[in-house]
Amino acid sequence: MKRPVAMLAATAHAVPTRVFTNDDFASIGVETSDEWIRERTGIGQRYIAGEGETLTSLCTEAARKAMAMAGVTAAELDLIILGTASPDRLLPATAVEVQAALGASRAAAFDLDAACSGWLYSCQVAEGLIATGSYETILVIGGEVLSRIINWRDRNTCVLFGDGAGATIIRRSTKQRGILSAYMRSDGTLADLLQRPKGAGACPMTNEILAEGSHFITMAGREVFKNAVRSMADAADRALDGAKLSSTDVDLLIPHQANIRIIEATAKHANIPMEKVFVNVDRYGNTSAASIPIALSEAQAQGRVKEGSTVMFVAFGAGFTWGSMIVRF
Ligand SMILES: CC(C)(COP(=O)(O)OP(=O)(O)OC[C@H]1O[C@@H](n2cnc3c(N)ncnc32)[C@H](O)[C@@H]1OP(=O)(O)O)[C@@H](O)C(=O)NCCC(=O)NCCS
Repeated sequence: MKRPVAMLAATAHAVPTRVFTNDDFASIGVETSDEWIRERTGIGQRYIAGEGETLTSLCTEAARKAMAMAGVTAAELDLIILGTASPDRLLPATAVEVQAALGASRAAAFDLDAACSGWLYSCQVAEGLIATGSYETILVIGGEVLSRIINWRDRNTCVLFGDGAGATIIRRSTKQRGILSAYMRSDGTLADLLQRPKGAGACPMTNEILAEGSHFITMAGREVFKNAVRSMADAADRALDGAKLSSTDVDLLIPHQANIRIIEATAKHANIPMEKVFVNVDRYGNTSAASIPIALSEAQAQGRVKEGSTVMFVAFGAGFTWGSMIVRF
């Protein structure tokens, strides 16, 4: 096992005030049912941003809470990395808006788009930068306002996603706590299976694109499902190999919260019983890059992650991107 160079000092989350239940889809004319959504996905409700709630506001709220928990001031932040696929503006990065809102005047800031793997990728970038010796304290956020980039008339996708943000303070490791193994992979040959086809650089926005809604998320659900199960299983194996641990050494598995069936398949493959798996997809839906840090924040608040806990994180998202991490808290 390598000596950890970076540790996750504190994690907190923020969600919009509005809860949107499965039954609420009837009120906007989407033909679906609570039974169908729960059976296929395990989702019961999600949070949806309302007027005045933005990616910047959610990320800033989550960041302030995490900074308070870690005892870190805005002036101490060296860097802000925001994993997101739903920025407030196409230019500049939302990370700089969060920087301004926090008053983190010393920090550099950028967005990182690895879709649902965004927080996990960002943690690994942060670890690498801390290892260079140039950075001490990094704010890593996974945040999304997916409700603004999904097609609310497409029942294949609109029932799956939710909004929220999770923020983590990553610092130079002390003692033997921190990131024990880290793994990232991508496969761009499968990019079309989960994408926003049009409305950006290669296919600039037109009235036609707006009318047909091809700037929203589209997904080949079954193919994505199969790839998610395969890739998350691979990522779990790599995490354990990298840390030279076995599944019995893992106190808690925190997987990306896309779908209860994908989570169960990942746990089964990794030989981790469901009692040791953190699940909150029922209350948040798939919040993409925010899903793992929101889950970690809740797991810590519930005492399921405490000092000395060994936690495995596994992510998968559009790209495809996937990866894993084992962290000793
Ligand atoms: C999307 C998903 C839940 C669909 O479940 P599924 O078991 O594959 O669905 P099926 O293909 O068996 O059923 C599709 C049928 O349900 C219908 N359907 C789709 N969405 C529906 C909804 N919200 N409510 C009711 N019916 C729906 C479809 O129209 C289709 O009907 P048809 O057969 O008459 O054409 C599933 O494929 C999935 O979870 N994929 C992965 C998605 C994901 O996690 N993406 C993010 C990864 S980071």
